[in-house]
Amino acid sequence: MDIATVGVIGAGTMGGGIAQNLAEHGLTAMVFDSTPGQVARAFDGIAVALARGVAKGRMKEAEAAAARARLIACDALDRVARCDLVIEAVFEDLAIKQALFRRLAPMLAKDNLVASNTSSLRIDELAAGVPGPERFLGLHYFSPAAVNRLVEVVRGAATSQRNYDRALAFARATGKEPLACRDAHGFVVNRFFCPYLNEAARLLEDGYTTGAVDHVAREIFAAPLGPFAVMNITKPRIALHAQRTLGKLGAFYEPARVLVESGEADRAWTIAGDAPADSPARSVIARRLQGAVYLPVLQLIDEAVAAPTAVDLGARVALRWDMQPCAAMDGDGAEVVRQTLEPVLKRYGVAPPRSLARVGRLLGPS
Ligand SMILES: NC(=O)c1ccc[n+]([C@@H]2O[C@H](COP(=O)([O-])OP(=O)(O)OC[C@H]3O[C@@H](n4cnc5c(N)ncnc54)[C@H](O)[C@@H]3O)[C@@H](O)[C@H]2O)c1
Repeated sequence: MDIATVGVIGAGTMGGGIAQNLAEHGLTAMVFDSTPGQVARAFDGIAVALARGVAKGRMKEAEAAAARARLIACDALDRVARCDLVIEAVFEDLAIKQALFRRLAPMLAKDNLVASNTSSLRIDELAAGVPGPERFLGLHYFSPAAVNRLVEVVRGAATSQRNYDRALAFARATGKEPLACRDAHGFVVNRFFCPYLNEAARLLEDGYTTGAVDHVAREIFAAPLGPFAVMNITKPRIALHAQRTLGKLGAFYEPARVLVESGEADRAWTIAGDAPADSPARSVIARRLQGAVYLPVLQLIDEAVAAPTAVDLGARVALRWDMQPCAAMDGDGAEVVRQTLEPVLKRYGVAPPRSLARVGRLLGPS
């Protein structure tokens, strides 16, 4: 691992969490934010999190103090730009990110890595503004970034193998499980997780209760929380934004009406209604949620965005699903999965994914 200093641009929810993770793993984090006082606020938050770690016995006070000392506030971009790795975590806005990369371009060191933590923009589009796009890639952390162990390491069309390997080594050295993938809308986890949230909203439109949907979802994916409870934590407006970005991929991905309403109002869902007592309702909810996950998973496998093992890693580590999509499909077998997908393909006019033929041995030798 040849990275010792990391520049973090943007000290909001994600930048703060990323800086904490770096400092806890022995790296120097040089942090810049354009909002006055934001870096100090982020460092105060990190100090509180570290103190909590000490109180819970997860680290010694000396380790927390050493981590705090590795956090350096920068009031100019040029110091940040010369770090071994620069991670951009500013607002999710293409024009803002592109303007930032234009400013950074003349300041970058000759051979440093540059990464974006974007959730929904394309890495190749951002790389176009960086001199030496072979150094550019996505490092997509999951919230809370100091805690969630998954990082999607996104290879752009121009990213060199050497730089990609450096990024994978960096992710491992900072205690993360890197999910290797190519640049694509939603990368891997959001490509199937957002449609799953969206299908939950469609089920609500069709008269199923939020409580029933959450209950069945927890059961079939062995998930800690159902989709409505998750959206209440991550905010319906974020779910809507992510789904709208995926909407470019076709009708199946277009946001449900009730998701648009809740997202635009940024209104939490009321979770009510019991587990469905009758098995037809339970089976409709289960089939529809499975279909909404399986279709994008098989599509992204067709598109060679990531391997089936990487999909399951994402579900297990980022979402904490004990029942992962590819393992579940292999368990069900091709015929059951075909039946699960049939109504989805018909309703949205989608061609059957080619990798449907591999179901049963997705996780086996290809
Ligand atoms: N919040 C999440 O759950 C999540 C998860 C994964 C990825 N992301 C991505 O991470 C990025 C940051 O998201 P966030 O939730 O931390 O946002 P945030 O709003 O909490 O923080 C963004 C920070 O960037 C700063 N900023 C804006 N423009 C800047 C500029 N030109 N130069 C320097 N600083 C600037 C702002 O002052 C703010 O402090 C986005 O691209 C987002 O899509 C977010």
